[in-house]
Amino acid sequence: MRIDGKPYRTIWLAADGETVEIIDQTRLPHDFVVLRLETLEQAAHAIRAMQVRGAPLIGATAAYGLALAMRADPGDDNLAAAGAALLETRPTAVNLRWAVESVSAALRPLAPAARPAEAYARAAAICDEDVEICRAIGEHGKGLIERVRAAKGDTGPVNLLTHCNAGWLATVDWGTALAPIYMAHDAGIPVHVWVDETRPRNQGAGLTAWELAQHGVPHTVIADNVGGHLMQHGEVDLCITGTDRTTASGDVCNKIGTYLKALAAHDNGVPFYVGLPGPTIDWRVEDGLSEIPIEQRDGRELTEVTGRTAGGEIATVRITPEASPAANYAFDVTPARLVTALITERGVCPASAEGLLGLYPEQAAAGRAAEG
Ligand code: MRU
Repeated sequence: MRIDGKPYRTIWLAADGETVEIIDQTRLPHDFVVLRLETLEQAAHAIRAMQVRGAPLIGATAAYGLALAMRADPGDDNLAAAGAALLETRPTAVNLRWAVESVSAALRPLAPAARPAEAYARAAAICDEDVEICRAIGEHGKGLIERVRAAKGDTGPVNLLTHCNAGWLATVDWGTALAPIYMAHDAGIPVHVWVDETRPRNQGAGLTAWELAQHGVPHTVIADNVGGHLMQHGEVDLCITGTDRTTASGDVCNKIGTYLKALAAHDNGVPFYVGLPGPTIDWRVEDGLSEIPIEQRDGRELTEVTGRTAGGEIATVRITPEASPAANYAFDVTPARLVTALITERGVCPASAEGLLGLYPEQAAAGRAAEG
């Protein structure tokens, strides 16, 4: 996507071919800062501190983290230690485990001297694949928006609601939930996006709004509690969110508050779609509520707010009483029954085991083989 007209991905290799560069998402929307990652520790910190975030981008950064570790020491012990360090950074997005396991499995049989080049090649391939996956999600999802437009006729833009940031900043490019919106907009379909602010870290207000503004997509930031009211009054034609982990039965784990939007959508007959790349499906997990670890983050993300003052400075202020404790749950699970359909790179399917296996039949064979 473009920033001030210049094309960017969210992660790329510097001119030296080894240093990794990222956009520091903790500085957006006020400052555009590119960070250099030269070590495994810096890559792990970038994921933990959410300088990079969003399930697909976390996976891509972890893959490059392994490459940086192999550059420093390609031995067996360091390969195992680097994977373990990366897996500890954030617990919920399954793309992290997928990237660490798949790159590590490819490196293990190789002689140490061959590992750095292979690790960089694998990381680059994960990035390129993510871009293609997200492009395909965009194409499939655009069809859903076109259908709403056709049904609505010329009575105003298609109004979409999204939560958190599942745009290009959350992936390598395009995004998952936002890719269909970008493609519909680019195809001339009038769209308008209600952007949930997404407390406590404000990924909607800070990141989604910034992305949409850069691309010229009409949008309005709303407080997290507004969506239900808008749906009751016919102001939302469809919801699209992303997911950090989708179970084999179609439950969806996404940014905290997604579940409440799905409930409101269900109550008001508003379609609730979830965009996801294949690597976000955890085929080992059936029940989202009991089996997915929900990240709990530092309470200061809730008790403090950072923004730009009228004088132009970035400042952090406390908004709760000093004595009040805070609980910062980062994700929740939306049961499959509340999801109208899943939008994947292979097409749109019901949020169910049958729906997913219809698009990913090789997983049925893998499951049978595992059962022996
Ligand atoms: O805590 P974050 O900002 O990493 O959470 C991100 C989300 O919840 C996204 O919706 C999800 O990763 C899907 S990204 C395409």
